[in-house]
Amino acid sequence: PLQATNTQRPVPKLRSAKHHAPQAAAFKVAVLGAAGGIGQPLGLLLKMSPLISDLHLYDIANVKGVAADLSHCNTPANVADFTGPAELGNCLKDMDVVVIPAGVPRKPGMTRDDLFNINASIVKALVEAVADNCPEAFIHIISNPVNSTVPIAAEVLKQKGFYDPKKLFGVTTLDVVRANTFVAQKKQLRLIDVDVPVVGGHAGITILPLLSKAKPFVGFTDQEVEALTVRIQNAGTEVVEAKAGAGSATLSMAYAAARFVESSLRALDGDSEVYECAFVQSELTELPFFASRIKLGKRGVQAVISDDLQGLTEYEAKALEALKPELKASIEKGIAFVQNQK
Ligand code: NAD
Ligand code: LMR
Repeated sequence: PLQATNTQRPVPKLRSAKHHAPQAAAFKVAVLGAAGGIGQPLGLLLKMSPLISDLHLYDIANVKGVAADLSHCNTPANVADFTGPAELGNCLKDMDVVVIPAGVPRKPGMTRDDLFNINASIVKALVEAVADNCPEAFIHIISNPVNSTVPIAAEVLKQKGFYDPKKLFGVTTLDVVRANTFVAQKKQLRLIDVDVPVVGGHAGITILPLLSKAKPFVGFTDQEVEALTVRIQNAGTEVVEAKAGAGSATLSMAYAAARFVESSLRALDGDSEVYECAFVQSELTELPFFASRIKLGKRGVQAVISDDLQGLTEYEAKALEALKPELKASIEKGIAFVQNQK
C-alpha cells in the first residue's frame, strides 16, 4: 500500500452502481517518459493498481519492450505503448491522469536548474499535447526543475485556453516520503504513524519540512531540526552522489509518484479524505505557486490547507522567508520561457 498523508485506507475503494455488483474503478493513466529510470518502476507500480484499467506508456524510444514486459503481469490494467510524437495524441486521448517524468536527470555537481535548458522544451511540448488531447486530465509534473516546469505547464495551458489550476500538480511527494522516513528513523517511530508536511518548492532551500507540524507530535532539539532539515533538502543530492553519474532518484521517486497517482485516483473515485503535499497554484503566500498540503477531490485541488503556515517556529519562519527569492526567480524563469516564445 502506498500510504497517503492522513489517509491510511489499506483497501482501494470500489465504485458501486445501484442494483449492480461493485466494480473496480477503471481509470486511465498515461506516463510520458515511461522507458526511463523513473518511468519503468512507476509503470510497474501502476500496473499493480486495481484502480487502473488502462496504462498508456509513452517515450521517444525503448517503450515497446517495457510495455511488452509489463503486460505479462496478471493484473487488470491493459498496457499500451506509444513511441514518438506521431503517437502521442493517441496515447493521451481519454486519459484521467497524465504523469510526466520525461527529461534528463542530474549528475554530481549539477543543480536542478541546470536541467532547465533541456527539460523546459520537453515539458512544454508534452503539455501542449495534453491540452490538445485530454485537457480535463490531472497533470502530474515530475521533470525538474519542478519549480520552473510547473509554471511552464501553466503558461502552456493558458495559451491553449485550457488552464485549470486545480488540475496541475508539481509532484513533491518524494520530499514528504523522505521527511517521514528520516523523522521515523531519528525518533524511532513507526513509519506508518509519521506525517511531515513539506512546503515551498522542490530544490535545495526551497524544500521546507515543517517539523513543528510533524505527526505524531515529537519534540526536536534545535540541532535535530537543523540536521533533519538539511538532510531532507539535500536528499536528492545524496542519491545523485551515490549514483555517481548514473542519474538521480528513480526507485523512491517511482514509489512517491505511484502514491500521488493512487491518491489522485481515490479522489477521482469519490474518496473525500485525501490529502497530499504538492506544488500548485496557491494564494498561501505572495508567490503564485507554492507547495503545501492540499485536499484532493474529484475536480483536483479542493482546498489548499493553510493551517500549516500558522504558528511556525522562528527557524521555520526564517527559512520560509529565505526560500522566497529563489522560488520566485524559478517561477518567473518558467513563465518567461513560454511567454518569450509567443
Ligand atoms: P531518465 O533519463 O532515466 O529517463 C527520462 C526518460 O524521458 C527517458 O526514457 C527519455 O527517453 C525520456 N524522454 C526524453 N525526452 C522525451 C520526450 N520529449 N518525450 C517523452 N519522453 C522523453 O531520467 P529519470 O531518472 O527518469 O528522471 C526524469 C526526470 O525526473 C528528471 O528531470 C529528474 O530530474 C526528475 N526527477 C524529479 C523528481 C521529483 O521529486 N519531482 C525526483 C526524481 C527525478
Ligand atoms: C530528487 O529530489 O531526488 C529529484 O529532484 C532528483 C534530483 O535531481 O535530486
